[in-house]
Amino acid sequence: MTPPEYEYLRKFLRDQSGLDLSADKQYLIESRLLPLARKAGLAGISELVQRLQGGSSALSTSVVEAMTTNETFFFRDKIPFDHFRDTIVPEMLKARAGRKSMRIWCAAGSTGQEPYSLAMCLKEMGAALAGWRIEIVASDLSQEVLEKSRAGIYSQFEVQRGLPIQLLVRYFKQAGETWQINPELRAMVQHRQLNLLHDFSQLGVFDIIYCRNVLIYFDQDTKIDIFNRLARQIEPDGFLVLGAAETVVGLTDAFRPIAERRGLYKPNDARAAATKPVLAGAAPRTAAMAGLSA
Ligand SMILES: C[S@@+](CC[C@H](N)C(=O)[O-])C[C@H]1O[C@@H](n2cnc3c(N)ncnc32)[C@H](O)[C@@H]1O
Repeated sequence: MTPPEYEYLRKFLRDQSGLDLSADKQYLIESRLLPLARKAGLAGISELVQRLQGGSSALSTSVVEAMTTNETFFFRDKIPFDHFRDTIVPEMLKARAGRKSMRIWCAAGSTGQEPYSLAMCLKEMGAALAGWRIEIVASDLSQEVLEKSRAGIYSQFEVQRGLPIQLLVRYFKQAGETWQINPELRAMVQHRQLNLLHDFSQLGVFDIIYCRNVLIYFDQDTKIDIFNRLARQIEPDGFLVLGAAETVVGLTDAFRPIAERRGLYKPNDARAAATKPVLAGAAPRTAAMAGLSA
């Protein structure tokens, strides 16, 4: 790969997905894109770049997907799910007691382990949430991971990463070498293909947003832009949850960290209100919310 080809790919990926590659990541491009080029019958990266420059949209999607990192596992990092069970849901139970509904968005849900971990937490709370209408929206840039998430089918290796055995037995059914999450939990999660670089106001307003382990790949201006747009999609008393290596501190005043709750943020009311467009306030909470029975 020549230096101009590398520069072309860097800019292409930044524009398409936000991925911010430093000047020395040629090896990463080669390891991910060479197999893709060969599969497409191309001689190598140079020919791949020519096709992209020629406007091949199928190839563009494949290149973007091949360069995303989809690493995830059930109850990843544990703490964000402890916060969910011990802080977020109890607070929402009080704050939303009148309307008994909650909207949750996993903004980079990958293959589904994160949204299904939240769904399992909710089911484990049993009677406290009986009669509540809960919606979990799992979105991702990649169609490939969304398909896997929709199917809810995981390998033995995947269910052994982070998932307590009693939850595996309770919520999954074994099918040969794989495990499928049960239909009730699958029905709690709606899937949407969505690029965080683009407008997401059509999703409406959420009580809780999990946006974990995706902003680390973006440059500072992109992070700031996304934080400011997330602030418009969250209720003033809602919660934002970020990954262990992510923070709003030093980037935006749209959110503030919650003391002693690592990774957990609240919108700053005044700021959220100021940046909320007229229409977002009136956005439908949802058309399809799953009812939760104990
Ligand atoms: C490392 S995974 C994180 C999954 C999960 N949130 C977790 O923490 O385990 C990052 C995900 O972000 C998605 N992604 C990357 N760029 C994106 C973008 N611009 N818009 C939406 N999703 C994106 C990738 O496809 C990938 O599935």
